[in-house]
Amino acid sequence: MAATVSDQLLDWYDAHARVLPWRARPGAPPPDPYRVWLSEVMLQQTTVAAVKPYFEAFTSRWPTVEALAAAPEEDVMAAWAGLGYYSRARNLVKCAREVARRGGFPETEAALRELPGLGAYTAAAVAAIAFDRRAVVVDANVERVVARLFAIDEPLPGARKAIRAAAESITPNRRAGDFAQAMMDLGSSICTARDPKCLLCPLSQSCEGRAAGDPAGLPVKAPKKAKPVRQGSAFWIEREGTVWLVRREGKGMLGGMRALPDDGWSARGDGTGEAPLAGEWEAGGVVRHTFTHFALELSVHMQRDAAQPAGAGEWWPLDTLDEAGLPTLFAKAARLVMA
Ligand code: ADE
Repeated sequence: MAATVSDQLLDWYDAHARVLPWRARPGAPPPDPYRVWLSEVMLQQTTVAAVKPYFEAFTSRWPTVEALAAAPEEDVMAAWAGLGYYSRARNLVKCAREVARRGGFPETEAALRELPGLGAYTAAAVAAIAFDRRAVVVDANVERVVARLFAIDEPLPGARKAIRAAAESITPNRRAGDFAQAMMDLGSSICTARDPKCLLCPLSQSCEGRAAGDPAGLPVKAPKKAKPVRQGSAFWIEREGTVWLVRREGKGMLGGMRALPDDGWSARGDGTGEAPLAGEWEAGGVVRHTFTHFALELSVHMQRDAAQPAGAGEWWPLDTLDEAGLPTLFAKAARLVMA
C-alpha cells in the first residue's frame, strides 16, 4: 500500500492544496524556513483561520528571523496576545535569537529539535516543509487520517505509537513536506472528525477504517477527565477614560503579560486574595475561561473614578485597550465591563 497511498495523496494535493500565506504551491521549491517555523508554532495553538491574521501581522512587522530576534520580548508577547500559551511567545523570541546567532535555521530534524522551544512536532514539520527532508509529521489531523486508514482502534493517547509507525510506513522519500500538508488538508476538509466525506476521498479504496464500516468512530478517545474549577477575582479600576493595568510576574501563568490586577488566583485558586485598593466594589460579572489544566471562574469587580492603587502599573486609555496585548482571559473581562 505504501507507494500508492502517498502517490494518490500527492496527486490529490497537486489539484486541491489550500493556498495559505506560509505555503509554497505543491511541488514548488520550499518556502522561507522562518515563515514555516512561525506558522507551525502558531498553528499548534489554534485553527488556520485564527492564525492567518496573526501570521500576517508578525511577518509584516518582523519579516525575517533576525528582525524577530531584535524585537523586545514584551512587543512579541503583546502581538501574540489572543493566541494563548504565552510561554510559546517567549520561546519564540528565544529561538529566533538562537537562530539569528547561528546565521540561519539548521536543516535536519535532529538539529532543529535542539533549538529552544522546538518540540518533536515542530522539528519534523520544519524539516519536511522548509527543507524537504523526510520526516514523519503527526498532528491531530494526521492522527485522525492515519487511525482511519489503518483502522487503528486502540484509544488515544495509547494509540500514538501505532499511529506514528503507520504514518512512517506511508511517508514518501520525496515531497515529505507536501505529503504532510496533504494529510493535514485531507483531515481538515474531507477526513473530518464527525462527518468524513469518503466519497470525495482520494484514499477511500485503501481505507481500512471505511472498509470496517465506521470511519467516524476513529480514532477512539479515552474519556476526558473533567477539569477542576478555580475561582478568582480581577479588578477593573477606571479613572478618566483609563484603566489600571499591571504587568504579571515573569515566571507564573501569563507571566510577563499586561493584565488587570487580580487576587492571585493563579497561585492559590481559592479566591481569597486581597483587592488592590480600598473602597466599594461594584460587581461586573463573571468570566469563564479554560486553561490546559483547569477552568477558571473570574469575578470582575469594578471601581469607576478610582484612586491610584499602590505598586507598579499604568493608566491605559480605554479607547486603545486593544493595543495593550491583554491575554484572552482579561480581554474577555474588559469586553464584559465595557459592553
Ligand atoms: N496545521 C499545522 N500545520 C499546517 C500547515 N502547514 N498547513 C495546514 N494546516 C496546518
